[in-house]
Amino acid sequence: MRSHLLILLISLLILKSESINCNEKSHSSDLRVFHINSQCSPFKTSVSWEDTLLQDKARFLYLSSLAGVRKSSVPIASGRGIVQSPTYIVRANIGTPAQAMLVALDTSNDAAWIPCSGCVGCSSSVLFDPSKSSSSRTLQCEAPQCKQAPNPSCTASKTCGFNMTYGGSAIEAYLTQDTLTLATDVIPNYTFGCINKASGTSLPAQGLMGLGRGPLSLISQSQNLYQSTFSYCLPNSKSSNFSGSLRLGPKNQPIRIKTTPLLKNPRRSSLYYVNLVGIRVGNKIVDIPTSALAFDPATGAGTIFDSGTVYTRLVEPAYVAVRNEFRRRVKNANATSLGGFDTCYSGSVVFPSVTFMFAGMNVTLPPDNLLIHSSAGNLSCLAMAAAPTNVNSVLNVIASMQQQNHRVLIDVPNSRLGISRETCT
Ligand SMILES: *[C@@H]1O[C@H](CO)[C@@H](O)[C@H](O)[C@H]1NC(C)=O
Ligand SMILES: *[C@@H]1O[C@H](CO)[C@@H](O)[C@H](O)[C@H]1NC(C)=O
Ligand SMILES: *[C@@H]1O[C@H](CO)[C@@H](O)[C@H](O)[C@H]1NC(C)=O
Ligand SMILES: *[C@@H]1O[C@H](CO)[C@@H](O)[C@H](O)[C@H]1NC(C)=O
Ligand SMILES: *[C@@H]1O[C@H](CO)[C@@H](O)[C@H](O)[C@H]1NC(C)=O
Ligand SMILES: *[C@@H]1O[C@H](CO)[C@@H](O)[C@H](O)[C@H]1NC(C)=O
Repeated sequence: MRSHLLILLISLLILKSESINCNEKSHSSDLRVFHINSQCSPFKTSVSWEDTLLQDKARFLYLSSLAGVRKSSVPIASGRGIVQSPTYIVRANIGTPAQAMLVALDTSNDAAWIPCSGCVGCSSSVLFDPSKSSSSRTLQCEAPQCKQAPNPSCTASKTCGFNMTYGGSAIEAYLTQDTLTLATDVIPNYTFGCINKASGTSLPAQGLMGLGRGPLSLISQSQNLYQSTFSYCLPNSKSSNFSGSLRLGPKNQPIRIKTTPLLKNPRRSSLYYVNLVGIRVGNKIVDIPTSALAFDPATGAGTIFDSGTVYTRLVEPAYVAVRNEFRRRVKNANATSLGGFDTCYSGSVVFPSVTFMFAGMNVTLPPDNLLIHSSAGNLSCLAMAAAPTNVNSVLNVIASMQQQNHRVLIDVPNSRLGISRETCT
C-alpha cells in the first residue's frame, strides 16, 4: 500500500516537472512572473539570454535621463539600434470581456501603456481593442489624470494625448480607462495609455505596467486595494519551475525580512531610491568616495532598485574600486574582457563575495547573482559595470541579475525596502 502511494507520488512529481503549464492560473493578488526568454514566454528568442546582456547599456542611459542627470542632453541610445526592453512579464487582463496581454514590469516607471488596435509601428500582433470592451472610456483633456501624463496635449477630438520616449523608442498614445484584472483582483477604471504610434525597438511588445511610486502608476491607482505595498521574486532566464511572482498588497508579505529605508526624491517621484553606504569585497570595505554613493535629490544622485536593468551599474569611481579589489582577490588568474564586462575569468577560479551595505541591511550576493557565465569561451564575468563614460552619471542601479531569487519587498507606507533569499527559479 505504502509503496503504491510512493510510486504514485513519484510519478506525479515526474509529471509535474515534465509538463509545464504556462497558463496555470495565478493565485489571488499573486501573479506569476516570467522571464522574457523563458519557455513560457512568447517573446523567447534563440539567442541565449547571456548573449543579449551586452545590450543593456541603453536602459541605463534611459534611467540616467529619468534621474534628471543632464536631462535633455543624455543620448538615449540614439541610433544604436541595440536596445534592451524590460526582462519580466506578467499576464494582465484588460477590458470587459477581458483581453489578455503579457505586459512588462517596470519598477522605475509610473505610466502603463498598451499597444492598441490600429497602432502604427507596434511590433506585436496582440493588440488591445478598446472598441470590443464595454468598460473602455477615453479620457478627455480636462480629466485630472491628463496633467499626470508625460508631455500631455489636447488632441483635435478633445481627448488627452501624450508623447514619450522609452529607451531608444518613442510612443504616441492617448489616455484611456478600463477595468484591469490581475490574477483575481479587479481594478476598475484603471488609467493607461493606448499606443497609436510607436517607433524604435525597445518597447515591450504587449505593453508595460509601471510599478513606480508616482501618481499615474498601478501602485497609486490601486491604493485602496494594495496600499502601495508589493513584493516580487524574479526567476532567471533558465527558469522552468515558474515560481517567479509579483505579490500585490500587504497580505502574505514576508514578516521576517531585512529592510532598509526607502528614500523619496520629489523630483523623480517614480524611482525607488535606497541608501547604499558601502560595498564589501570579501571582508574588505572598499574605498569609495562618499560622493559616489550619496543620495542627492537635487542632482538625482544615489542608488535605486530597478527591475528593468539587467546587471548592476555603479558610477565609475565606485565600480573601479570594487572591480580592483575583486581582481586583487582572484588569485593566479588575470582578468579578460567580454563585451560590456571587464572582469572575466576562464576555467575554475575562486571568487570573492560581494556585499552591498545599505543603511541597516547588508546583502551578500550568492555566486549566481554575482557572476554571469558566457555560453561561449567558458568565461565567468563579474556581472556589474561602470556607468557608460559618455554620460556624466550619478546613478547607481541595483539591477535584476542581482535581485533574482530574492524576494524584494516595496513597502511605501512604512518607507522601507526589504530583501530576503527565496528560490523562485
Ligand atoms: C507627438 O509628437 C508628434 C511629433 O512631434 C506631434 O505631431 C504630435 O502632435 C504629438 N502628439 C501629442 C499627443 O502630443
Ligand atoms: C468608473 O467610471 C465610471 C464612468 O465614469 C463611473 O460611473 C464609475 O462609478 C467608476 N467606478 C469606480 C469604481 O470608480
Ligand atoms: C525546480 O524546483 C525543484 C524543487 O523546488 C528543484 O529541486 C529544482 O532544481 C528546480 N529546477 C530548476 C530548473 O530550477
Ligand atoms: C598575468 O599577467 C602577468 C603580466 O602579463 C603575467 O606575468 C602572469 O604570468 C599572468 N598570470 C597568469 C596566471 O596568467
Ligand atoms: C571549462 O573550464 C573547466 C575548468 O577549467 C574545464 O574543465 C572545462 O573543460 C572547460 N570547458 C570548455 C568547453 O573549455
Ligand atoms: C554590515 O557589515 C558591516 C561591515 O562588515 C558591519 O560593520 C555592519 O554592522 C553590518 N550592518 C548590518 C546592518 O548588519
